[in-house]
Amino acid sequence: MLLKRCKTLLENGEIVIRDILIESGKIKKIAEKIEENGVESIDIAEKFVLPGVIDVHTHMREPGLTSKEDFETGSMACVKGGVTTFIDMPNTIPNTITEQSLIEKFELIKGRSYCDYGFHFGGTRADNSKEIERVKDKVASTKVFLNMSTGDMLIEDEKVLENLFNSSKIISVHAEGEMVGKAIELSKKFKKPLYLCHISKAEELELIREAKKEGLDIYAEVTPHHLFLSEDMVEDNLLRMKPELKSKEDCEALWRGIADGTIDTIGTDHAPHRIEEKEQKLIFGVPSVENSLEMMLKGVKSGKIDLKRLIEIMTINPAKIFGIEGKKGVTVGGDADLVVINMRNEYKISREQIISKSGWSPYEGMVTGGRVVTTLVRGEIVYNNGEFLKKIGKGVSYSE
Ligand code: DOR
Ligand code: ZN
Ligand code: ZN
Repeated sequence: MLLKRCKTLLENGEIVIRDILIESGKIKKIAEKIEENGVESIDIAEKFVLPGVIDVHTHMREPGLTSKEDFETGSMACVKGGVTTFIDMPNTIPNTITEQSLIEKFELIKGRSYCDYGFHFGGTRADNSKEIERVKDKVASTKVFLNMSTGDMLIEDEKVLENLFNSSKIISVHAEGEMVGKAIELSKKFKKPLYLCHISKAEELELIREAKKEGLDIYAEVTPHHLFLSEDMVEDNLLRMKPELKSKEDCEALWRGIADGTIDTIGTDHAPHRIEEKEQKLIFGVPSVENSLEMMLKGVKSGKIDLKRLIEIMTINPAKIFGIEGKKGVTVGGDADLVVINMRNEYKISREQIISKSGWSPYEGMVTGGRVVTTLVRGEIVYNNGEFLKKIGKGVSYSE
């Protein structure tokens, strides 16, 4: 396939118009003009072509919680929002904490995802480090909950935490406030890379800045909701999640953290609960894969970050941190995971448009920074103008 007249970014951030040739799912050539006979050609007409988003923090709810989401609807929401790879969290029912439960997840998703995928494995308070040893090359990381959240996966025992860190390749944590410091300490002690999920407060950023200065192998994620929404907007149960929304000053600090390199990635923490459940009771989590890229483009338009940084934090860094193979951005030799964006099509987010089973969005009423028109996964069009075309998703692999 040949994509003609794509607006794309050079490594130095310069915006240029290029043709992109795709062969066997990979980007074969990028040049000012490519002529190829007998190859299907699509005129992109100078719309932006960005690398597909890699969202390493999603809760797709399968197995066990499929009234909220499943791999099919969750991956539809992904490709509609420009996400071409998602990594799913272990707090399903059963929890993904044994080799067997991981195998079952891989079986369940086969042939049902529109985009590529991977799984995090859960650490347990009963100490499943033996299981971790067995699966660690097949998963993105070991996820450890250091604070209470949805699902009963909190771990407090020091010795157990030490064993979990020691047996893992990389650890992702749900840590809030002072537990961020605790996670950093364990990462340092056991010399294991640490991925701090959903950083939401200025104080947490300070701890991370210090750790990075020391040269520790530490990475931090922020969610779009902690950037665009603040505690003063909370009126009912809808905008409640863990970590909770913080002050406007914290939002600004997080944007600064992105700009100065303290924050490495955007992860959505896509945590769908059905709108009826959210309205009835206090249950933590908000859906987000469908709107993350279009919302972040709003950040680009308002000058909070540039497009180059957006691509780093939404695609390049997530792939690097977890060693996800083949996902290199718009680069020759990389997977042709691409998103065509109409930057002029800013639209108001509303409940009726939502594909996720949750049936709502925390960004309802807000105007996006553009619209995802087409999504390609490994060179195949999986989403185009509201239509979902192919469930070609496969499991990603991880490098050493
Ligand atoms: O709000 C949240 N919801 N935070 C989490 O850490 C988990 C998530 C969920 O699974 O619903
Ligand atoms: Zn969490
Ligand atoms: Zn989460």
